[in-house]
Amino acid sequence: MNIELRPVTDNNFVEWRKAVRHGFGQHVHPDDIARLRNDRAELDRLVAAVDTGSGRIIGTGGADSYSLTVPGGATVPMAGVAYMTTSVTHRRQGAFSSMMSQIHSAARERGDIIAGLWASQSHLYSRFDYGLAINSYDWEIDPSYGAFSHSPVSDDDESDAHVYFVGADEAAAMLPGIYEQMRQQTTGAVDRSPGRWRYELFDEERVRARASSMFFAICEEAGEQTGYVAYRMRRVGDTDMGALEVSEQVSVTDTAHATMWRFLLNFDLVGKIIAVNRPADDPLWWMLSDPRRLNRKSHDALWLRLLDIPKALEARTYNADGRLKIALVSEAQPEVTGTYVLDIDDSQASVNKTTDKPDVVVTPADLAALYMGGVTPGSLLEAGRVDVVTTGSLAKLHGMFSTDSAPWCAHYF
Ligand SMILES: CC(C)(COP(=O)(O)OP(=O)(O)OC[C@H]1O[C@@H](n2cnc3c(N)ncnc32)[C@H](O)[C@@H]1OP(=O)(O)O)[C@@H](O)C(=O)NCCC(=O)NCCS
Repeated sequence: MNIELRPVTDNNFVEWRKAVRHGFGQHVHPDDIARLRNDRAELDRLVAAVDTGSGRIIGTGGADSYSLTVPGGATVPMAGVAYMTTSVTHRRQGAFSSMMSQIHSAARERGDIIAGLWASQSHLYSRFDYGLAINSYDWEIDPSYGAFSHSPVSDDDESDAHVYFVGADEAAAMLPGIYEQMRQQTTGAVDRSPGRWRYELFDEERVRARASSMFFAICEEAGEQTGYVAYRMRRVGDTDMGALEVSEQVSVTDTAHATMWRFLLNFDLVGKIIAVNRPADDPLWWMLSDPRRLNRKSHDALWLRLLDIPKALEARTYNADGRLKIALVSEAQPEVTGTYVLDIDDSQASVNKTTDKPDVVVTPADLAALYMGGVTPGSLLEAGRVDVVTTGSLAKLHGMFSTDSAPWCAHYF
């Protein structure tokens, strides 16, 4: 049995899309094939693994193009790896590995500096030098325990922040502008193209899993739209307390965040509010009088691989100036092995290779995990993932890479 990687074109796109969904144990609605083709898929970034005997697609993969905000506010081109499957009939024959390697080479050729992904299984990607750069939380809270002890918006606040409901059409016009402001000011956020917005806001019955269609509310301050929430209700009958399921809540000011969560926690006839993918350092916990009532379950969010290590390191800013020599050891990428010296001046790094003795030794995966400031080098040291060669360099690494707030990627792909 031979497996060959082939391009995805309009001739095999339908078969490829069916194979993707089949790999995740699902059938696909014909309209959703067209929706992916029109609003999201970049054909030249997709790959099919074909069994040359049968001519059938047995493996799928690809990437979406994103712009990723890195610490300091610069954005870098990122390959958002997705659609990775191998049919159960052809597992463990290297199809996944060879598709990943083709996707990485193609991404490098088109100038992507970073590759990122959300993993369906968290043990799959460190072998390809992906590090867990962003964690997030899923929340559940009974709104009757939603009293605040603290808030940036006081009762006698002059702020005229207020919330109003909008319909789906108005939401489609308003949400992208608010999201775009958030992504420019949030480390770890990625952009959304107009097509991707259509894809995200698609709300036919079959995607609702028996919940209501989407509700939208906007927060406005001094005539500016500064926050939104998109949510569904899940209730059976008029007396069921049910659940309010927040799909996405974005704010660009502290006032909007507090106002939006005051609005959500004011609901009665709601047994619980569920919110997925909240930032690791979201302030709501610190605002509640009874914070334990906010159940938080952490999970891995964005995994990153630095495709061009010097360019990636030079793109972000640093919290402390100085010089640090980082040795990288990698089985997956022998070509990146070696020692990199970071000379940081005025928060910007210049990065060169050196033959000097390193200060610290890490894998490219752990460097990618540290890159966004979402994990401390101390945790990685205690986990046996970092070697400290010269005295004081752990504190230096920490001081340089730490960030003011935790990274957050609001966009799942
Ligand atoms: C995960 C998946 C894509 C792997 O496909 P595959 O073609 O069998 O993978 P490969 O043969 O290229 O294996 C690559 C390596 O990963 C390992 N591996 C792959 N899947 C694994 C799994 N589920 N558990 C443990 N190891 C796994 C292989 O053992 C191999 O390791 P090696 O190089 O040390 O031998 C496939 O099992 C699948 O489609 N799963 C369901 C969908 C899914 O989870 N996709 C990932 C989306 S984020």
